[in-house]
Amino acid sequence: MATRMVVTGAAGFIGSHLCEALVARGHDVLGIDCFTDYYDVAQKRRNLAALAGNPRFHLAEESLTHIDLKRALSGASVVFHLAAQPGVRKSWGAEFEQYIEHNVRATQMLCEAMKGSGVRLVYSSSSSVYGQTAQLPMREDHPTRPLSPYGVTKLAGEALCLLYAVNHGLPVACLRYFTVYGPRQRPDMAFHRFIKAMLSNEPIEVYGSGTQTRDFTFVSDAVDANLAAAAYTGNETVFNIGGGSRVTLNSVIDLLGRLTRRTPDARYRETQKGDVMHTLADIALATRELGYAPRVGIEAGIAQEVEWLDAERRRVGT
Ligand code: NAD
Ligand code: UGA
Repeated sequence: MATRMVVTGAAGFIGSHLCEALVARGHDVLGIDCFTDYYDVAQKRRNLAALAGNPRFHLAEESLTHIDLKRALSGASVVFHLAAQPGVRKSWGAEFEQYIEHNVRATQMLCEAMKGSGVRLVYSSSSSVYGQTAQLPMREDHPTRPLSPYGVTKLAGEALCLLYAVNHGLPVACLRYFTVYGPRQRPDMAFHRFIKAMLSNEPIEVYGSGTQTRDFTFVSDAVDANLAAAAYTGNETVFNIGGGSRVTLNSVIDLLGRLTRRTPDARYRETQKGDVMHTLADIALATRELGYAPRVGIEAGIAQEVEWLDAERRRVGT
């Protein structure tokens, strides 16, 4: 049955894919995005190009902290809350204010507007809430000790959603994504930077030894998790959303060499503050409760990102 869905952060990497998936399923979608300058807004506009003119999709170009939320949410069945100031490594110093504004304040205002409405909230959380843990795989009931200021704000956002669930009966599901990649990936993220460098025959800048590992998650799997969480009515509220396997950065660089038929020129730099060494998701809970199963492995997924960035380079010279 077609319903009205709201997606915050609609012009972003994951949000734009989610909007397309919802529209393709026959839903009416209101996207909210204020086009922050965290990265080039032209990329965000291109992210929404496929939805332009689609009568099922409307865009409100406003911040969650300024828009009339009650009005925007009226008639909605589900709100997917992806809007945020992303990025682990940039969240230090004066920038932290942006993280408070977009990740904490905006989430609190959204929860306030939604309380008592019965509308379901699906919150995009992050593996960064766990921090530097020796316990792998990471499980939802493990301690949360973020290592970056960004992680602190994502955890605060999650805590806000959960306390509105307890105090005001807000139906909530929090999805802790593990390093998402694929077409439209943000330009500050590792794969985007590595592929761009390789396609331009430039050196790759690796922070640390490259032996760090991530449970990289393809973007369509993160979208599938959102669709499943929208329909979920059970009691669990926090779910790990991982890609199904853990790989080193160095092995991804080798893979990129094979895919692009070029020899990677990796330059190893200092480890960045806030970066955790390893992530691996225990997805048993999401599998059991949401039927979540990642479908795209690293080789197929990264090939799609290479193809996208190659096309972007030809189209807009990025
Ligand atoms: P993104 O930056 O591409 O998208 C976020 C969008 O939110 C941007 O278009 C931005 O303009 C918008 N936005 C920010 N503040 C806003 C506000 N106050 N009002 C309206 N719009 C606002 O980021 P992404 O990588 O697509 O991440 C989406 C979500 O997933 C974020 O919540 C992020 O923390 C979370 N997440 C991402 C990853 C990942 O690997 N990409 C992993 C874990 C969690
Ligand atoms: C990613 C997202 O950027 C966060 O928004 C998200 O919350 C987080 O995943 C998560 O899983 O919760 P990160 O794992 O740092 O954060 O993702 P990448 O930017 O792709 O970095 C992966 C690794 O590559 C990190 O160790 C990073 O230091 C390294 N890297 C990154 C480089 O070596 N070189 C670069 O140019 C960029």
